Amino acid sequence: MADNSYDYDVLIIGAGPGGYVAAIRAAQLGLKTACAESRETLGGTCLNVGCIPSKAMLHASEFFDAAANGTMESMGVEVKPKLNLDKMHAQRLDAVSGLTKGIEFLFKKNKVDWKKGLATFEDAHTVKVGDETVTAKDIVIATGSSVTPLPGVEVDNDKLIVVDSTGALELPKVPKTMVVIGGGVIGLELGSVWRRLGAEVIVVEYLDQLLPGMDGDIRKEAAKIFKKQGMELRLSTKVTGCTVKGKKATLTLEPSAGGDAETLEADCVLVSIGRRPNTDGLGLENIGLETNQRGQIEIDHDFRTTVDGVWAIGDVVPGPMLAHKAEDEGIAVAENIAGQTGIVNHDVIPGVVYTWPEIAGVGLTQEEAIEKAGGDKKAINVGKFPMMANSRAKTNHEPDGFVKIIADAETDRVLGVWCIASVAGTMIAEAGIAMEFGATSEDIAYTCHAHPTHPEAIKEAAMAVIGKPIHI
Ligand code: FAD
Ligand code: NAI
Repeated sequence: MADNSYDYDVLIIGAGPGGYVAAIRAAQLGLKTACAESRETLGGTCLNVGCIPSKAMLHASEFFDAAANGTMESMGVEVKPKLNLDKMHAQRLDAVSGLTKGIEFLFKKNKVDWKKGLATFEDAHTVKVGDETVTAKDIVIATGSSVTPLPGVEVDNDKLIVVDSTGALELPKVPKTMVVIGGGVIGLELGSVWRRLGAEVIVVEYLDQLLPGMDGDIRKEAAKIFKKQGMELRLSTKVTGCTVKGKKATLTLEPSAGGDAETLEADCVLVSIGRRPNTDGLGLENIGLETNQRGQIEIDHDFRTTVDGVWAIGDVVPGPMLAHKAEDEGIAVAENIAGQTGIVNHDVIPGVVYTWPEIAGVGLTQEEAIEKAGGDKKAINVGKFPMMANSRAKTNHEPDGFVKIIADAETDRVLGVWCIASVAGTMIAEAGIAMEFGATSEDIAYTCHAHPTHPEAIKEAAMAVIGKPIHI
């Protein structure tokens, strides 16, 4: 398979979950593979400053919260928690270090060459990485994404007063007041970490509801739960400016639709208004590759760009910015380059918010399903089941949330599943598999689920689609 006119069969640019997975799969398929990465460690945003460190802080702070907020006491475990933030950070760094080194080991094991440095295209088969020139028959762009800046609010992760998600993972002490700009996934996850550890958290969201893109009922329920936990939500509000004096930030806020401005003081401000694709410095102009209006690289069904031999995957292409989506695209692109058929079903990509409780969904929201049916509300059936009526959740003192299943009224095929539950992120996997296999709600309803488990709520919600849940 090797073409000796190039140094490599495949060069991947970026070693995040998209790039490192593509590199390993390409090598497994017998292709001579290199991966360019400019960071000091492999694993991209996800392992270094994203999924993994945020989950390390979420998991640890959840224990602290359970001890501090009375949950443990209500089960007969009486402890007074004492926060050792340095130790909490140390276990976060330990998790990151172990996992990033693990990717380095996998690269060696699979004979993937790591080219350390920033990669820039010279032509469609030639890339400069630092001082080295590397040629490859096929090149995959997997450069990921970075924080979207907010004009007027300057992030400074050194001073740690106005921070992005990377800075918010590193705070050396719990801020008294934290303002989170953007009520999306990052704002709610990292806002939850610091609220649990004692900060007063105010979330400022431009839209009239949190978590855009999720099902409407889920968004409303999430807002109720976060308010109950003590987060202050300032919806339909925008931040128009920020000044920092000493150790305090002062923000100017306005109603999104316009109106009187007000100011708000905070010890820490987290800017989390989205992420944008990384293409600066890649030299796309040298290969005649343009980005779309959102700065993304457009691809076809097989992950080919418009330039022959250049492919793209992950956060840098359209679609949800999620690690598992990037990983699946990494496997598929490598298989396509090797002449196999690599496919990702973009209609069945689960999304999970790792708060307490967790919030998860896969497939269409109720609003999208109705819109797809031309506005006909009768074209779908919806079944809901509250976690309060699930024996395991109730026993575990986890009453919040529900499962909602949306099915096609004519065929009963499941179109979307949404959950708020302590373990929603784990529960959603079965919904993904069911949908991948084209399940009807009846298929789920008549599948035996172990008792007592949280996923029984999925079975009961499926039973509710056709009108016969047992426990409500
Ligand atoms: P990235 O992981 O961004 O990797 C791209 C890599 O390319 C980077 O390491 C970068 O240094 C490198 N690079 C860029 N340009 C060049 C160049 N020119 N030359 C060489 N190297 C280059 N997703 C989830 O699914 N679950 C989660 O729980 C989750 N939590 C998150 C928490 C936070 C705080 C953040 C910020 C993100 C989170 N995400 C989560 C999103 C997830 O991290 C991304 O979707 C995922 O990392 C995208 O993978 P990728 O391979 O496309 O890009
Ligand atoms: P996001 O897109 O999830 O949320 C951004 C929020 O900011 C939106 O609600 C938006 O309406 C709001 N907003 C935008 N401009 C604003 C302004 N000027 N003032 C106030 N609010 C404003 O983006 P976020 O949270 O930054 O996350 C980025 C990406 O990282 C997401 O696409 C997500 O997929 C990924 N991620 C995934 C995680 C997971 O899977 N658990 C965890 C963290 C991040």
